[in-house]
Amino acid sequence: MSETGIVIDGVTKRFGTFTAVDDLHITFADGETACLLGPSGCGKTTLMRMIAGLETPSEGRIIIDGTDVTRMRPRRRNIGMVFQYPVMYPTLTVRENIALPLKRDASLSAAERAKRVDEVLEVIDMAGRAGAFIDELDSGSRQKVAVGRSVARQTKVVLFDEPTTNVEVNAKLTLIRTFKEISRRLRQTAVYVTHDQTEAMTLADKIALMKDGRIIQYDSPATLYRQPSTEFGGWFLGNPGMNFIPVTHTTRGLESPLLAAPVPAPDRLGSGALRVGIRPEQLQAGIEPFEGSVKAEVEDCIVGIAGQLLVRLKVADETVKLKTGKLPGLRNHDTIHVAFPNEHLQLFEDGNRVEERG
Ligand SMILES: Nc1ncnc2c1ncn2[C@@H]1O[C@H](COP(=O)(O)OP(=O)(O)OP(=O)(O)O)[C@@H](O)[C@H]1O
Ligand SMILES: [Mg+2]
Repeated sequence: MSETGIVIDGVTKRFGTFTAVDDLHITFADGETACLLGPSGCGKTTLMRMIAGLETPSEGRIIIDGTDVTRMRPRRRNIGMVFQYPVMYPTLTVRENIALPLKRDASLSAAERAKRVDEVLEVIDMAGRAGAFIDELDSGSRQKVAVGRSVARQTKVVLFDEPTTNVEVNAKLTLIRTFKEISRRLRQTAVYVTHDQTEAMTLADKIALMKDGRIIQYDSPATLYRQPSTEFGGWFLGNPGMNFIPVTHTTRGLESPLLAAPVPAPDRLGSGALRVGIRPEQLQAGIEPFEGSVKAEVEDCIVGIAGQLLVRLKVADETVKLKTGKLPGLRNHDTIHVAFPNEHLQLFEDGNRVEERG
């Protein structure tokens, strides 16, 4: 049997001499929600546009549920899409906007169409406003209608490109819940682009982390967060991202002025640059010295949401970020003591994760 879901098979997209998407191989599994996450310009929209058929790959194939759609016209691909600025018809009501894509579907009777629209209105929680004109809605509700319209046809595949960018934060949460609910109910294969890692963590079954037209890692949100395959991944995810501390490989293990004792080194190591990564929330910190601690100077301190302190420290000659709920009243230039617990250290060589011994 041929593979279901969306298979991106060696896809490259060049604009002139510039390569926007570079030999991508990835499968978005049937019925799952995948998020594309990565810095601006890394090729997310270009990939989405190729899946939708709005852009043709320079090389490679795109296969949806076993059918090669690489050269197929967008209409025939049967894909639902929501983009950042959806086209809406202000002179039509909410109900009419959602019903619009169903007009082309000759297989549905008028009654079936009406029923489908009712279902969508219920899912997006807009049944009470079905008669309202688009002009009368706030941006969050308008995006909800756009989502409703894109799912009304119940296509197997839906693409979302930063659909919540222009939506105010509370409405954003409602929208995200709506996406989840809809794709679960309709068992849709969804690809969702976002800049917002919290959004990606909340929504995604799997996250594809992209950089420079390539996929850096494709994993569950938890794995991506806990075991980034690269320093880039550790740095990009997290708020703020991972700390990296250069270490030297000696006969005693991995050493650094920041570590009170050498850390055991894995068996096989190359001759590349070695750094250990640790998340700001994984540091231990105290006012008094403690077992395994080293001295640190507070350079800058800000109170984050939920009362957590975000602290920039100078430790030996390195800048280190600490996130803690334990040291209220900390001030710039204070001296504190921190430790980097062994069990949280992750080793990278030339930016790539060194797997632990099995
Ligand atoms: N039609 C085009 N012609 C030339 N270059 C393009 C074209 N479309 C995209 N690019 C370039 O390809 C690269 C990837 O663009 P893309 O829009 O896919 O990035 P993105 O990851 O979606 O970024 P953002 O997060 O800012 O939306 C960018 O450098 C962009 O300038
Ligand atoms: Mg984009």
